[in-house]
Amino acid sequence: MVDSVKQLLKAAQEAIAASTDARELDAARVQYLGKKGEITALLKSLGGMEPEERRDFGQAVNRAKSEVIDMVNARRAEIETEQMAVRLAEERVDVTLPGRGQARGGVHPITRAMQRIIEIFGHLGFEVATGPEVEDDYYNFESLNFPAHHPARAMHDTFYFGDGRLLRTHTSPVQIREMQKQGAPIRIIAPGKVYRSDYDQTHSPMFHQVEGLLVGEQVTMADLKGVLQTFVNAFFEADLDMRFRPSYFPFTEPSAEVDIAWHKDDGSDPGWLEILGCGMVHPNVLKACEVDSEQYIGYAFGMGVERLAMLRYGVTDLRQFFDNDLQFLRQFR
Ligand code: DAH
Repeated sequence: MVDSVKQLLKAAQEAIAASTDARELDAARVQYLGKKGEITALLKSLGGMEPEERRDFGQAVNRAKSEVIDMVNARRAEIETEQMAVRLAEERVDVTLPGRGQARGGVHPITRAMQRIIEIFGHLGFEVATGPEVEDDYYNFESLNFPAHHPARAMHDTFYFGDGRLLRTHTSPVQIREMQKQGAPIRIIAPGKVYRSDYDQTHSPMFHQVEGLLVGEQVTMADLKGVLQTFVNAFFEADLDMRFRPSYFPFTEPSAEVDIAWHKDDGSDPGWLEILGCGMVHPNVLKACEVDSEQYIGYAFGMGVERLAMLRYGVTDLRQFFDNDLQFLRQFR
């Protein structure tokens, strides 16, 4: 009888040693130790034995059972170690592979041009002011000395909401709001979005302007010209010829448009290119802000950011700035 236990133990030992993964090992465990397993069956048969026989045989079977349990546990640990070694070999990180890098975004060319403008005027002592994009007739036109039925209003292709409000057509209303707040003297630029019902190669319904305003006690048009020449040279990083050409804006008197001498890439003679509008602040504008027009005088200017960015970066269709075509935008990274 005890011999048969020895044989069983030997068979179990072989089955356990032969198992190569957790599933095979478990099958071997069930075969000997499971509810219907072979060792379990031997233990069940003890009941029908004589007491003498039962004691010796029982001890032998129980010893065999705990040996099998130890063997299973030992083999399980071995299998886990083997499998871990295989996984470590397979999943090893190859530190010599080149890195994948980080996809990097870039600042939009309009934002970049805007930042340059703000920085350059910052060096000249101008502080940034902002105002609302939804304006009313008073701030967008009336306070800026546009008479009620003046044709200059029609030139602005205004978007109206129908309740007296409108989308600002220029950043000039920020002049009024800031001067009403701060009074004089004042030295600000007002960058921001403006809106006009217009769409072609050089116009889009939303675009960006930077307005400038300086009011003090002794300000001349020569000061204005000097500041603008400094700005133009800094912005284009070149010594550019610049001229004032007489013009008309309701909120400045006298008014001028500023041209720069522009060399095209094809080497042809330079032509004059208009880049901004400016002038001496009209006394009516100062009055609307309760600034004493006998004591104070000032200049103002306004420029289109898209136009400057087109010239600076050689972009020929303004609408490209708003198409969000990555091939286009990546060039500015
Ligand atoms: N507001 C004008 C426009 O949108 C630009 C402008 C011209 C602003 C002359 C000024 C200025 O401050 O003095 O076309």
